[in-house]
Amino acid sequence: MNFAYRVLRCYLALPGLVLFTLAAGAAPQVTMSIDAGKPVHSVSPNLYGVFFEDINYAADGGLYAEMIQNRSFEFAGKDALFGWTQVEREGAIGSLSIETERPLNKNNPHYLRMAVADAGEGLGVANHGFNGIPIKQGSNYLFSVHARALNGVGNLSVELVNTKGKTIGAANIVGVNPGWNKYTSVIRASGTESNASLVIVARTVGTMDLDMISLFPDDTFKKRPNGLRGDLAQMVANLKPSFVRFPGGCIVEGKDLANRYRWKDTVGDVAERKGNWNRWQSAMSEAPAPQYYQSYGLGFYEFFQFCEDIGAQPLPVLNCGMSCQFQDNQLVPMEDLEPYVQDALDLIEFANGSEYTPWGAKRAAMGHPEPFRMKFLAIGNEQWGDDYVARYEKFAAAIKAKRPEIRIIASAGPDPSGEKFNNAWTNLVALKADIVDEHYYKPPSWFFSNAGRYDNYDRNGPSVFAGEYAAHTSSRRNNLEAALSEAAFMTGLERNSDVVEMASYAPLFARQGFTQWDIDLIWFDKSSTYGTPSYYVQQLFSCNRGDILLPTTLSDTRKTKSQFFATASRNVKTGQVIIKAVNPGEDSVNVEILLAGLISINSKGQSIVLSGKSVADENSFKEPVKIAPVTDTFGGVSSKFHYRFKPYSVTILRIDAAP
Ligand code: AHR
Repeated sequence: MNFAYRVLRCYLALPGLVLFTLAAGAAPQVTMSIDAGKPVHSVSPNLYGVFFEDINYAADGGLYAEMIQNRSFEFAGKDALFGWTQVEREGAIGSLSIETERPLNKNNPHYLRMAVADAGEGLGVANHGFNGIPIKQGSNYLFSVHARALNGVGNLSVELVNTKGKTIGAANIVGVNPGWNKYTSVIRASGTESNASLVIVARTVGTMDLDMISLFPDDTFKKRPNGLRGDLAQMVANLKPSFVRFPGGCIVEGKDLANRYRWKDTVGDVAERKGNWNRWQSAMSEAPAPQYYQSYGLGFYEFFQFCEDIGAQPLPVLNCGMSCQFQDNQLVPMEDLEPYVQDALDLIEFANGSEYTPWGAKRAAMGHPEPFRMKFLAIGNEQWGDDYVARYEKFAAAIKAKRPEIRIIASAGPDPSGEKFNNAWTNLVALKADIVDEHYYKPPSWFFSNAGRYDNYDRNGPSVFAGEYAAHTSSRRNNLEAALSEAAFMTGLERNSDVVEMASYAPLFARQGFTQWDIDLIWFDKSSTYGTPSYYVQQLFSCNRGDILLPTTLSDTRKTKSQFFATASRNVKTGQVIIKAVNPGEDSVNVEILLAGLISINSKGQSIVLSGKSVADENSFKEPVKIAPVTDTFGGVSSKFHYRFKPYSVTILRIDAAP
């Protein structure tokens, strides 16, 4: 009987101590050797970012804090009054209609007319937001409306009304005159209601026109006007993303060219932004969303501002003269491409130009005289084929000639392999593209077996942007299995971050009950949110990114099917060694960790562990942090020590050592 076995038998009688002693005494199943004295390369500082697209109601009804749905009556045709109902209180006589003559401006052609013959107790409209407006007692709400009174001066009552019909907040708008003007008021809520309505009624006889009826909480992220929902923006901020890719995704391309995303429609006064229908209305036949629109209240200025607020690089994606190749696949002829290219140059000026340039002046007028210092720009989203290459080439030539500071991202198409992918890479290497954007939505098994995908990529060609990826489980659930496989894959991204410069999970947001795409990073409803296990994997990797990669080898003596994945890096300033390890198996794994090349090692380390009892485990509104990282300390760290990695786990070990 050897010593280790005797120790093991002895402690089996003391259940509380078994695990630790087993780790210290049992023969290792895996040996992890890390040489801190021979760093391999820098870890890309831009490696872990996020990808925002207005899918699953991520913008209106999501990150954009506007509480009113269809605030400007621009939903098409019979839906112009979608979200609104007529309010006719006792004694009121009159009618509502949608009109277009003498609108607020040409981009906002529809407005509501209230013709009041007898105001009675009030004639008007109610909006129910996005399935009910959540109101909190004691909070302030910023109401605004553009209005005119055609017969002299008009007065309006504005009320927040709970499901019992009780008013829980009110304001009066008085002296509405015959020209279009904006009227504002702050409403303080006297009650709490998750399902409130905003009611606006005329108190005077005559005809009144209303448009841009808006209600915001006053606690938007960083208290920005026209701002973002605080809890959702904070979820993104908590990922500490190094970049934000926006605004998509397929919405950049549009179903057809008319439907494409035009950044210039999304800046300036919100009342003058030309909205658009969202191509996710009809892109998924199994999930139609006929009233899905883009108000563009969350537009390019707000995206840039958000990036600045959370310390992320902005990474806009522009239409390249092609609509979605999975849908209408329309092409702008090469000879007509110039305005599209000009849009790109103008965007760079909007972001980076001085306030004395035409587009820099527009940015300054919106409140940001300082440039946003954008470094990256993607041309096209998920494009492929010769038509794309020709258009990319034209954009790249113009941008490089005038704005050489910009690194351009080109598309490798929708698949991570195959003809489209290979052709894209061949062409983009020949064109000396800066960065190539790869997309993959694949089963967890693909992610596990592709952890070495980039080990042999050419270090002299373009760098890689893994711009959209997510593990799609057979159950189509955001569970621990998906998260473990992504984590395993991400150890490969970090190990190869000399060629993989950036990566972002997709899509970012999903509103419960409003989805077109069911595997997503962050779920929310009208008042709460939770991160999926994949969210916490993204957070673990992003918040524990080292500066330099350390060579790490694993020797696995187990005869099991599950593998073990690990990577190690180091913080240059503090000297801290950061190990990321993924144990996807159902058994814990006893690992001997050998640390070479360190001058002094603190015997106490920090562990951050994400794990669960089953790979089917998920988070939910009821159990939002069922699968979430747990931080602890552990002892016995030295140049050779054992650590037992939990079943189904992603583990970060932070070990202090002299820099
Ligand atoms: O992330 C969802 C969609 O997947 C994106 O819009 C598109 O780029 C990809 O096909």
